[in-house]
Amino acid sequence: MRMNADEFVVATFHRKSAASSAAAARNGAGQEQSDDERLSYLRVAAESSLDAIIGTGADGRIVLWNGGAERCFGYTSHDVAGRPIAALAPAAEAGEIAAMMRQVGAGGRITRYETTWLRKDGCRVGVEVTATPVYGDGGDYRGAAIVARDVSERRRFDEDLLHAEKLESLGQLAGGMAHDFNNLATAIIGYADLGMAELPPHARACDDFMHVRDTAERAASLAQRLLAYSRKRPMRPADINVSRAVRSAEDLFRTVLGERVHLAMQLSRDGGRARIDPGELEQVILNLVLNARDALPGGGRITVETGTVVLERALKLDRETVLAAGAYVTLTVTDDGTGMTPDVQRRVFEPFFTTKRDGGGTGLGLANCRRIARRVGGGISVHSEPGYGSMFRVFMPRVQDEAGAPSMER
Ligand SMILES: Nc1ncnc2c1ncn2[C@@H]1O[C@H](COP(=O)(O)OP(=O)(O)O)[C@@H](O)[C@H]1O
Ligand SMILES: [Mg+2]
Repeated sequence: MRMNADEFVVATFHRKSAASSAAAARNGAGQEQSDDERLSYLRVAAESSLDAIIGTGADGRIVLWNGGAERCFGYTSHDVAGRPIAALAPAAEAGEIAAMMRQVGAGGRITRYETTWLRKDGCRVGVEVTATPVYGDGGDYRGAAIVARDVSERRRFDEDLLHAEKLESLGQLAGGMAHDFNNLATAIIGYADLGMAELPPHARACDDFMHVRDTAERAASLAQRLLAYSRKRPMRPADINVSRAVRSAEDLFRTVLGERVHLAMQLSRDGGRARIDPGELEQVILNLVLNARDALPGGGRITVETGTVVLERALKLDRETVLAAGAYVTLTVTDDGTGMTPDVQRRVFEPFFTTKRDGGGTGLGLANCRRIARRVGGGISVHSEPGYGSMFRVFMPRVQDEAGAPSMER
């Protein structure tokens, strides 16, 4: 195995320290460490820290840049040596770093200041910055020691939580409305019955009252379905064969696809099992198929496919989801419809994001799919070309059988 630079530093350090502690024992000096040794520890700790550790001179130019800084901002120490630290801020906020450096230069210490800096690739990265002045032996200001921690993950988690709360309150709102609606429909049915009872049998108006009654009953049943959907039911995850689940939802979605949409099913025979609430899995399947249908206003082709994949190493699905290495069951829905522009594609999982006009969409379908997939430890990916179509793939951790191995491969 090749060693990377960090391990090499650590390895040489181990050898040196073993030799010097043998010498220390010979001298009878016990466990005491020399300044040199302590410095070596500090150097290794700084180099291997996951946080970005940056040193600047009194003029604000970068003189120290550790591996954490490289990972966080994408620049190598070679890229940044001698460049002003202010270059890390987005142009609009360049003054902010300058002000921070002035404060540190005047002897101030900045603690856990949260801001946004820029990566080499132009992406913004949320950081929490601590900056401390460094003085020479004579007490002269030599520069700043800066520790920047990447907090983008945490920020995204906070956003997710907010989205989940929004979804939850929407569910409650819909539930409340469905309840009132249901009561109104019951009243309409009651009055229709009263009206009919006052008419002589075979009166023509009887038919009209019957229609009123039927329509109100349909409305009540819609409201009840909405109620059932929004009601907090306990989750009942079970080991579900995903191919079988798609098969049993097929009737449901075939009826809404219409004749101009050709549906192809490619269900893996083994299918693989995932531990998921069957009602939620059905929601995911339906949402994806209905979106595909909506992307095919003039008809076209939808493919629903199941399979399994084994990830040798962690896979970054998008900016917010990383799948751990391991075996996954996949559910893929592909259409050859309108596709999406990159702008739309970037936002599809946002709650309430919809491009469907006039109440055609809620913007909650994909947000819900992603919430469900993530909750079981999976995720959902999207690929699309405007004009060519889209593909959504749901990954769910595959249930291992007793022996601990994934059940038989296809
Ligand atoms: N298969 C698809 N093809 C093209 N666009 C899609 C597809 N699926 C989703 N989208 C886009 O993502 C948006 C959000 O989808 P979704 O969260 O299900 O909400 P809704 O369907 O209510 O609009 C849609 O409005 C549409 O712009
Ligand atoms: Mg939808």
